[in-house]
Amino acid sequence: MNHTTSPTVVPSPTQAPSPSGELAGRRVVLGLSGGIACYKAAELCRALVKAGATVQVVMTDAAMQFITPVTLQALSGQPVFSSQWDPREAAGVGNNMAHINLTREADAILVAPASADFMKKLVHGGADDLLSLMCLARPQTVPLLVAPAMNREMWANPATQRNVAQLRADGVQVLDVGQGDQACGEVGDGRMLEADELLYDLVRFFQPKILAGQQVLVSAGPTYEAIDPVRGITNLSSGKMGFAIARAAHEAGADVTLVAGPVALPTPRGVRRVDVKSAQEMQLALDTLALSATVFVSAAAVADWRPAAPANQKIKKDGSGAVPTLAFTENPDILAGIAGSERARHGLLYCVGFAAESHDLLTHAQAKRVRKGVPLLVGNLGPATFGQDDNALLLVDEHGVVELPRASKLSLARQLVVEIARRRGG
Ligand code: C5P
Repeated sequence: MNHTTSPTVVPSPTQAPSPSGELAGRRVVLGLSGGIACYKAAELCRALVKAGATVQVVMTDAAMQFITPVTLQALSGQPVFSSQWDPREAAGVGNNMAHINLTREADAILVAPASADFMKKLVHGGADDLLSLMCLARPQTVPLLVAPAMNREMWANPATQRNVAQLRADGVQVLDVGQGDQACGEVGDGRMLEADELLYDLVRFFQPKILAGQQVLVSAGPTYEAIDPVRGITNLSSGKMGFAIARAAHEAGADVTLVAGPVALPTPRGVRRVDVKSAQEMQLALDTLALSATVFVSAAAVADWRPAAPANQKIKKDGSGAVPTLAFTENPDILAGIAGSERARHGLLYCVGFAAESHDLLTHAQAKRVRKGVPLLVGNLGPATFGQDDNALLLVDEHGVVELPRASKLSLARQLVVEIARRRGG
């Protein structure tokens, strides 16, 4: 194998690395083996750089049949390596040992796409090209993730599945495959995940698994209380905080179910979602799911009242100027009910409540914690959080108060997960 990428002057990457990105400071070796999914690796490379990672690309000869090193070099801003005989300096070392140097400072190797043949090579310790040689020679402290990409029959073949099982047994993180149309015209399992999914999986991989083994139930968003078939009462909750908590809990290794009121947010990857509308529907879903949950985070803004007798038909103006009168009935307090359940009282279910206030946050949050009977209450200022991408939280428990200063909702959700895990002994 003597394919050597000639040195070229490279423009700076299209997207300058963001120091505050999800992968800021991470050094990722992105390996490409042969497959049509190589076209997605270009977008993945760009996404990794945009997320703040330093990306070093290594390609096999087969990968270069599908996409050129020039593309990956431009996107990563680093020279691409493809041959073990490449005499260029690798990772600042000029000893002609790219297979060693490229991984010594790496935080992870991600092979995407990983072809069936490349996975076979990994299983058997093959080392006849730079990428496999480098994977074999990596320190055991450098994690290896592979994103399989192949035709559905190849993926389903027992030989491939044996190799996947062996790779997992060897400690390699074999990521999922996608499902759907394939380049060959067939439909089924085996597509490589999309760039944003792979980015998410890598970000998740780096998060400590402090909620592993936990069944986390999260409620999020507003509820919608019907007045008649076309009108209803809702509130300004965007659901963003609850969705971020569901994502953070999943990143932390939990099995997560999200019960969402009417919001248009995408479901966090790996999270099970149940959509509901009214408080009563939300209660039904949560009461059932709480029977098998170990943590319940009640971030939904549940309507306090609902119209007592919603009309079956649209309430019509009769032209007289008369306005309808609405009578209300109180909604059940879902959180208080679950927090008072036997499982919660016996410590099998840890409940976390939220309080959206407009003033005197600490006083209201402390009072609400006692009133709802929850061990942890998270206070935030409603007008400052509804619809925003960032927030500030006040955590109140029996020992006192922890303040989480203003940050993105995802960052706060991750901090909240740490606080929950600490209290659950995680
Ligand atoms: O009483 P308040 O609405 O301020 O309490 C907020 C907390 O209680 C949130 O955690 C919210 O999800 C939950 N809640 C509930 N059922 C209600 C009202 C609020 O579970 N009917």
